[in-house]
Amino acid sequence: MDYQARTKVSRILIDEAIPVGSHVIILGWVRTVRSSKEVAFVEVNDGSCMKNIQGVIQQPEAFPILEQILTGASIRLEGNLVPSGGKGQKYEVAVSKIDLVGPADATYPLQKKRHTMEFLREIAHLRPRTNTFGAVNRIRSKLAYAVHSYFQERGFFYIHTPIISASDCEGAGNLFRVSTFDFENIPRREGKIDWDADFFASESYLTVSGQLEGELVATALGDIYTFGPTFRAENSNTSRHAAEFWMIEPEMAWAELEDNMDVAEDFLKFLFRFALEKCTDEMDFFGQWIDKEVRSTLESVAGSKFERLPYTDAIAILEKSREPFQYPVSWGLDLQSEHERFLTEKVFQKPVILYDYPATIKAFYMRMNDDGKTVRAMDVLVPKVGEIIGGSQREERYDVLLQRMQEMGIQNLESYQWYLDIRKYGTVPHAGFGLGFERALMYITGMGNIRDVLPFPRVPRWAKF
Ligand code: 4AD
Repeated sequence: MDYQARTKVSRILIDEAIPVGSHVIILGWVRTVRSSKEVAFVEVNDGSCMKNIQGVIQQPEAFPILEQILTGASIRLEGNLVPSGGKGQKYEVAVSKIDLVGPADATYPLQKKRHTMEFLREIAHLRPRTNTFGAVNRIRSKLAYAVHSYFQERGFFYIHTPIISASDCEGAGNLFRVSTFDFENIPRREGKIDWDADFFASESYLTVSGQLEGELVATALGDIYTFGPTFRAENSNTSRHAAEFWMIEPEMAWAELEDNMDVAEDFLKFLFRFALEKCTDEMDFFGQWIDKEVRSTLESVAGSKFERLPYTDAIAILEKSREPFQYPVSWGLDLQSEHERFLTEKVFQKPVILYDYPATIKAFYMRMNDDGKTVRAMDVLVPKVGEIIGGSQREERYDVLLQRMQEMGIQNLESYQWYLDIRKYGTVPHAGFGLGFERALMYITGMGNIRDVLPFPRVPRWAKF
């Protein structure tokens, strides 16, 4: 077949690279068919862009196959590209040949009407064919490219950190186990599970973060980043948590917390500008159908300075606010989304970087401040979504780190010796952060639920498709 001779619709309608009068072959999926005695219109989407192209068929009775062409079917259209008289479209195809490739019958679930996000999640195998998920999947791809551009252009090396790991980076215990044991017959020794008999001869998990390994490579190459899937078995059924999500984690040797904040802010603004300038079609769609203010928000944020505020000052603001928070505020509290939203949406109305958090609520690897109470942690909070970045300057002093790990009750200290070792040999100040890719996508697109920026979301009780 001549599939490779096809013209992508984006080449016609976005790039405007195909001259009027050209002979074109369009391959795609039918969105609508309208037919009268004299003329039929078939609207086709081929996935290459938001827009559909219209095929116009004069004397439909000469094309009996039309009767079998219903919404959802895949078809091949051949004809000449002509200027369109129709509203909202510049070009259309004057069809000379039409073939049905894969039929769809009247049970096709995506008929021409607005479906709820909840309904579409139930048919997640078909939702890529909708306008919304076409836009989501395309912008995801473009922004992944933007992530790589940002770091590659600045001399960061892309490091593939392992997906299977024996350590819990965040110390939160939300780990998915990796094992080849037969669950019906788990080997035991002296009454305990014999992990030595398992595939890796130790307990192993899907990683929650590439940071620890990232630090090892950063303290050799200087600036690195990871961009990969991470897994958390948090049983929290919220609109912001997924069990499998993608994280971007830059790690920089020779960097302190302020440097880290500068990179985080610059990186986010780069992504926002990229979306505005290079994803115009998708952003127009999100602005029209998902969140009217999404464009103006990104524009104003990309041009203004993020607020930077010590955690202690944030607590003071919250305490003074007299807002009826569900979780009462006091120093030492791990901020809840209601507090984060109050700060970003009501007080500052822009992204806020909170830093110097109480050591008790943060992970073991963060650098201790001289006050002995707070650590050099930072979280970037944005309106509506809340936390999108978590990061810190790392504890580079061997003894301080060891003591902190002991204080935090990390059980199997010997299994972190490799991590401690980089502090033993040529230690350097270093810092990094993790951006949740989906949280960034939620902010950029205005989509309200993390399930709807993931092509195949994994959340509690759901890994079907
Ligand atoms: O704040 P977190 O837990 O930080 C780390 O994992 C560090 N190791 C990062 C680093 O310093 N290299 O997670 C970082 C970000 C969060 O700010 C959030 O955007 C996202 O990852 N995230 C999630 N996104 C979706 N679903 C979840 N369950 C998430 N948990 C964290």
